[in-house]
Order: sequence, then structure tokens, then C-alpha cells
Amino acid sequence: MSEFIHLTSKNHSLIIKSGRVPEILHWGAKIASIDEDLLLSTERPISQARLDVDVPLSLCPELGSGHFNAPGVEGHRDGLDWAPVFNTTRVEANTTDVEANVQQATFVLEDTVAKLELTVEIKLDYQSDVVQKRVTITNKGDSKYYLNKLSSTLPLPNHANELMTFHGRWCHEFQTQRQRFEHGGFMQENRRGRTSHENFPEMFAGTQGFSEQQGLVWGFHLGWSGNHQMRADVRSDGRRFVQAGELLLAGESILEPQASYQTPWLFGCYSNSGLNGIAQRFQQFVRDNIIDFPTDKPRPVHLNTWEGIYFDHKPEYIMQMATEAGVMGVERFIIDDGWFIGRDGERAALGDWYLDEAKYPNGLEPVIDHVNQQGMEFGLWVEPEMVSQDSNLYRNHPDWVLGLQGYHQPSGRWQYVLDLQNSECFDYLFSRLDDLLTRYNITYLKWDMNRELVQPGHNGKAAVHGQTQALYRLVDQLNEAHPEVEIESCSSGGGRIDLEILKRTHRFWASDCNDALERQAIQKGMSYFFPPEVMGAHIGPAECHSTNRRHSINMRGVTALMGHMGVELDPVKESQEEKKAFSHYIALHKRFRHILHSGRSFRMDPADKNQNIYGVQNDDEMLITVCQLAMPDHALPSPLRISCVEDNAQYKVKLVEMPQTSFQLMKQRPQWLDKTLTLSGDNLKEIGLTLPILDPESALIVHLEKM
Ligand code: GLA
Repeated sequence: MSEFIHLTSKNHSLIIKSGRVPEILHWGAKIASIDEDLLLSTERPISQARLDVDVPLSLCPELGSGHFNAPGVEGHRDGLDWAPVFNTTRVEANTTDVEANVQQATFVLEDTVAKLELTVEIKLDYQSDVVQKRVTITNKGDSKYYLNKLSSTLPLPNHANELMTFHGRWCHEFQTQRQRFEHGGFMQENRRGRTSHENFPEMFAGTQGFSEQQGLVWGFHLGWSGNHQMRADVRSDGRRFVQAGELLLAGESILEPQASYQTPWLFGCYSNSGLNGIAQRFQQFVRDNIIDFPTDKPRPVHLNTWEGIYFDHKPEYIMQMATEAGVMGVERFIIDDGWFIGRDGERAALGDWYLDEAKYPNGLEPVIDHVNQQGMEFGLWVEPEMVSQDSNLYRNHPDWVLGLQGYHQPSGRWQYVLDLQNSECFDYLFSRLDDLLTRYNITYLKWDMNRELVQPGHNGKAAVHGQTQALYRLVDQLNEAHPEVEIESCSSGGGRIDLEILKRTHRFWASDCNDALERQAIQKGMSYFFPPEVMGAHIGPAECHSTNRRHSINMRGVTALMGHMGVELDPVKESQEEKKAFSHYIALHKRFRHILHSGRSFRMDPADKNQNIYGVQNDDEMLITVCQLAMPDHALPSPLRISCVEDNAQYKVKLVEMPQTSFQLMKQRPQWLDKTLTLSGDNLKEIGLTLPILDPESALIVHLEKM
């Protein structure tokens, strides 16, 4: 006999029908109560010329019961027990305890023929409306079960008929693509051994033409830093679903009797206000449940040395850079790659995590002391999972490389990956990192990871799963030993950005591309899930090192200041004028970071497709950035109609930033640019604010204060 489990959050309902298998009947707007006739009103007909029974789209769909699309579980016992069919044996639900802030249901299902047990956990977070789901499989038989796949499945309603997925590459992360979602589907498979630039594990489905501000949207993210498979399918009967889980390599999960395998968490979210509703909910969930900063001080402004000096480390010069950084208002100074023995270029020394005394004859202490004297914290770059062939570590322990014997393995950035499941190697890495953090006054590590896993073998067996878990253990162990130290997750820029790594780190390096125009797109894609305070965003040199494109300081400054801000250049070599501008943007960031790093982010659907309009607000204030990405579509700009204001409130409206050079496309500017306006919510919403004509690749910021 079926019964319903109704999980509710502040705005949403998740109704699960618990019969032979659990099936979600509704995931969306809040339903006050379940009607007695719901069972009858949702009964499906059975179509001609197909199976004679109704096949539920369950939380773990089964091939063996007639689900002809991707099943939730695949595996076998030496060729047997390969099409399991489950029956629910136990349901535990907490649907009343609002105080606990999360309502949840756990379903235990059994297949007594294949001798497998499934546990499906699903939670709904009260404040953010975010759903979390994971599945555990246990081998109840007395022989090994070869698990090929275990995924989390969440259904979509039939009116979700458009997909937005992500793609990317180095220096070009978080790019999005739209496609119709009516028949067939979409699948991404990540075999790179890290979260990857190419296959960011996130996707959206929604009603046709869903946009930043409009439409019904369902969003999904898999919290996992290894391989994954993520797909969205429309069955031939029109029902549709998203499915995500770890992509297991051959033999990667062989379950001994009584052993279990658990999927990563799949996070999901619904919105009836377009992508804004998704981003605000995910960001709130991440703030409330995932991010764990060691202190609640404001996020410090960074200077990172990489693009300033690369491998050319001279302590006296670095101290000069630190002096200049301090004057500009920088609060954390990070020495990037190049500080350890023999690291004069990218071909050598990874693994030898000892200070290069040839470069730093007086040690690192005088540099750190100097940085601290300028009022800044000190941070250091490391890439613990890697080894260069030309290193003492490799010469002493060639067998510590993650690989397969008997094959040649291509290097990547001239380096190899270490086998973290090798306990000696793990202990060596922990002791080196622990020693650095104990010896020096370091409060921040930039933890890099610059290549993919090509032959991820541990004792000959596929080992991405084990390697990923060992990485988590290594970071956890270090966090436990040094709870005051913050860690940035970097992987050639944004190659390892996901929620499971964020549970143990504090910032992401979004991209190696500091080109402000590229960054507008990269940061937009990233912001659908992650709040600005974990999105590393730096002002780079006027001529961008990764694209050779030039941008004004206005475009660079405005783009960087909406994240966790930093600068990445050599301040000693910059002109007084540029330095003055860096100080200006750093000060602007500090003035507004209380809103930036705790407010609600939003985006607007621009009338001009060549604009990117985004902002952040709290109950009293709002900041809106208008960035002109390319030539304006029309000669005159469309008024900025601000929908997220209160109709009856009055607002003080002031421009806080605009291009510093003269405007080329405009000979007379609107007078209000130099004034403070008082406007009411309904005027701002319905009539809007007339903007100046922005030149391509320039930006302005408007500040609104509720009176
Ligand atoms: C990677 C990072 C960069 C920098 C270099 C150093 O590419 O993404 O930010 O740290 O490594 O080698």
C-alpha cells in the first residue's frame, strides 16, 4: 500500500510516494496538504503495446523492473545478479521537526535474490530549500559484488523542456550551453580524475527560455572531486530525470561481503524565479552548511606573486613588492610557485617541499616578518599531489607515482601524480606540509593540482575513487592539525571547484585567466552555485598574460571587486597612476564587502545582449554592476529597471564607479551621474534609471540605499 511522505521547507514541497520503491511525485512550490484523492488523481494509464504494468520512475530506477533508460545501479556477481529489483523494507521519515532545520526521509530497499541492500537518503533544508540526496549499496551476499555504477536520480516535471549545461577548458571555465530537452537527452562523463575545467558537475533544467529572472528552473550539483557521470534523460513516455554519480572505472568498486559503497551527495534546488532563485538558494545553502572559515573576520584582500615574478624569486625584491602591496591596502600576501629547492621552472622540483636556500639564504622568516610588519598575513603556494621526474622525491621513490606498471605514462606540465593511497607517500606529504605550517607563520595555503590522472593505478588497480578520498583525508588531517590556516583550492585555475572540496577549503581560484572580459563569463557561471566570498578574483596587469588583451583599470577593477578580491601583478613595476587605481578599487571592495560577502546575489536579463548586469543586496543596500561587454546593441541604452526593490520604499541612488577615461560614444552625460537621486521603489522598478552610454569593455556600479 502506498503512502506519501511530505517534506517541506520554507518555500517548497517534496512529496514522495512510498510503494514498492520510493518515487517523487512533486518537487517544487509548497503544497499546503496532501489531498485524499491524490493517489487516484496521479494514477498513470498503461499504454498499448508496452509492458502490462506501470513502471515507477523511482529514486533508483531498475532495468529489471522495466526502466529502459539509465538504471541507478549496475553491477554483477561473476556475471550473475546484474539486474537487481528492490523492495522497500523500511522507511524512516522526519517531516515535522522544523527546529532541526532539515526534513528528511531514508528508504531501505532490499533485493533478496541478488542479496543487495540499498539505502536512499533524501533531505530538504528548511532555510534554503536545497535538496540533498545520496545512495548507499551494501553487499548482503557471501561473494564479491562487482559494482559498475551507483547514481542518484531525481525526477523533473514534463514542463522542464530546456537544459543549460556547462563546458570549459583551461582559462575558459564555466561556459554555458542551452539545448532543447524534449526527446533523448544529454550526458557528460568526466574521466580526468579531478572535478575538471571541462565537465563542471552542475546542470539546470527549466521551462522554455528560462532566464536569470524568469521561469521555473531545477538546478543540480554533484559534490565530488573525482570522475563523474551526469545526465538528463527524457524517457519515450515523456517522463524525465537527472542522474548523477561517480563514474567508476573497471574494478574500482568491488564489494566484499557486507561491504558498502556510498555515492557523493547530489544537491538539487528548485526556483520559480529563474536562475536568480537557484543561485540565491544554493549560495545560502553553501554559506549555512558548507563554508567554514576559521574566523569571522572580513575576507582579506590578496596579492599573489605568480604573474608578477613567476619563478624569479629574490627575497629583497619580494619584500619591496610587499611594501607596495601594504600601501595599496592588501591584507594577505601570497608567495606562489618557485620558493622550494630547485624550482626554477615548471620542469623540476615538485615534491621537494623544502625552502630553496640558494634563493632565500636568510630563510623565509625575514620575508614573512616583513609581510607581517606591513600589516598583512602570509600565504604560500604548494602542489602536494605532484612530483617532477627531476626531483629528489622522484629519484628516491619512483614507485610512489600513481600509474600502471608496464606502460609509458605521458607527463602533464612535465609532472606526475603521487599515489596518495601509498601510506608512506601520504605520511611524507603530511609531514612536509605540517612542518611548513609549524615552522613558518603561514595562515594560508594555495593548494594547487595541475594535471589530470591518466593511468590512475594503485597496486595495478583503478584508483581515482581511492585517490580522491585520500586527498580529502590529507586535507582533513592538515585542517585538524592547523585549524587556523585557510586553504585555497586551485587546479590550473578552476579545475577543482565543487562542494565536497569546499567542505575542507576556503576559497577557489576561479581561473588562471585574469582577462576581465573572460572573467565576466567565468564568474557568472560560477556564481550560480558559489557565493562571491569564495570566488577568487584578481586584478591582473593591463595586458592580460593569458590572452594578450588589454583592459582599462576600470574594467579590471570592477570585475575583480565583486568576488574575493586580490591583485596579481608586480606592484613595483606598475606606474603611480595604476597603483593609485588599485588602491581605489581595493578601498571600494572593502567599503562594500559586508554586502558582497553576505548579501543576496542577483542578475538581470539585459535588454542589450551585450551587457552583463549583476548585483548584490541586503535589507538596506544594493550594489548593481553594469558591464558593457561589447559594442552597445543600440545607440541609446535601455533604462535599468530594478525589480528587486520594495515598491513603497524610497532609495538614495548614487553612481559609485564609472569608467575613468572619457566616454567615446557619448558627448553629453545624464546629469544625475554627479548627483545623489531619491527615487521610490515603484519608479525604479517600472520606469527605471537611464544609464550613460558605456564604451565596450567598460563598467559602472550603482549604489542604492533604502531610506
Ligand atoms: C597553476 C595555478 C596558477 C599558478 C601556477 C604556478 O597554473 O593555477 O595560479 O599558481 O600553477 O605554477
